[in-house]
Parts: sequence; C-alpha cells; structure tokens
Amino acid sequence: MEKDIKKVLVSREEIAQKTQEFGAILTEEYKDTMPLVVGILKGAVPFMADLVREIKVPLEMDFMDVSSYGDALVSSGEVKIVKDLNTNVMGRDVLIVEDIIDSGRTLKYLVELFIYRQAKSVKIVTLLDKPEGRAVELEADYAGFLVPNEFVVGYGLDYKENYRHLPYVGVLKEEVYES
Ligand code: PRP
Ligand code: MN
Ligand code: MG
Repeated sequence: MEKDIKKVLVSREEIAQKTQEFGAILTEEYKDTMPLVVGILKGAVPFMADLVREIKVPLEMDFMDVSSYGDALVSSGEVKIVKDLNTNVMGRDVLIVEDIIDSGRTLKYLVELFIYRQAKSVKIVTLLDKPEGRAVELEADYAGFLVPNEFVVGYGLDYKENYRHLPYVGVLKEEVYES
C-alpha cells in the first residue's frame, strides 16, 4: 500500500465488482438508445474508463471540466465551465459519470444545464457518495459506496493532484495534509 494511505476504504476488487454490477444495469437501461456518457474531469477518468467497458451497448463518450468558485468561507455555489462538451445533448439520453458527490453542487449545476439544453434524460452514476457533505439537494441514480467525512483519495480522487492513479480508494494520513 502507498505510504501516505492510512487505510483502504474500497478495494480494487470491490470497485471491479460494483463496476460490473452497474454495467449490467446500464446495459439493460440503455439497450434501445445510444447514450451520451459524460465523464467529469479529472476525478471521473478511472471510473469512466472501467465502467464503459462493462456497458455492452453502443454509446458515445464525452468529457466536461468544471470548477467550483468560492472558498469555504464564501461558498457561492457557482460552477464555472472550464471545458464544455463537444456534443449537443438535445434529445440525448445523458449519463453523467462521477467519482464522488460531496456538496452536490457540481452535479446539481450539470443536471440543470443538460435539462436546459433539452437532453431527453439525465442520469447520474457515481462511485462514491459522501452524504454528510451535502449542501444542496441532489441524489445519484446509482451510487456505489457511501464514504464517511474523511479525506479520501485514489481511483480518481486527488489531494493536490496526487493519488488519482491508486487502484483503490483510501483514507489519507493526517500528517500528509497537516504538514
Ligand atoms: C471533485 C469531485 C467531484 C466534485 C464533487 O472534483 O471529483 O467532481 O469535486 O464535489 P461537490 O459535490 O461538492 O461539487 P474537483 O472539483 O476537485 O475536480 P477534480 O475532479 O479535477 O479533482
Ligand atoms: Mn471532479
Ligand atoms: Mg479534486
């Protein structure tokens, strides 16, 4: 295990099993359409890559990069588009893929944006959900694992851009972010 990790929360085996489970459900759900699967950079990249390989219907992939404005003090809840989709979502069945839902602001903004752009349907699949972090009302259609209010990294989740490449989700040692 990586030296900065205190404990593994979700192992690579558990992630693989959940990904297959979601893949089977989504294969059935999108069998009559060609969904647009949207990964939210950068955190969603590992999950997106593994998940789409378990969805056994034709699909299209695209990516969007957004960033939240405002620090913890002035939590404006505003979201800025850093990189928009290359695809028109009008009339499309959109599946948003995320690594984690925390406050819910990122996804609330995106769901509303895609509805405004006249997507036919908008659903959310997330590997992790941190319900204690919620600041707005937002639930995923499919959420893999609930995580406690701790500093989690790995499988897409970063601390100062590191640890995204770990094949599992773990809790970061306090000494790493306290030093
Ligand atoms: C993280 C995470 C989600 C979002 C969740 O991304 O990957 O996209 O925050 O937080 P929220 O529910 O409070 O909106 P971040 O903005 O850190 O960018 P990154 O994916 O590039 O790390
Ligand atoms: Mn993200
Ligand atoms: Mg981040």
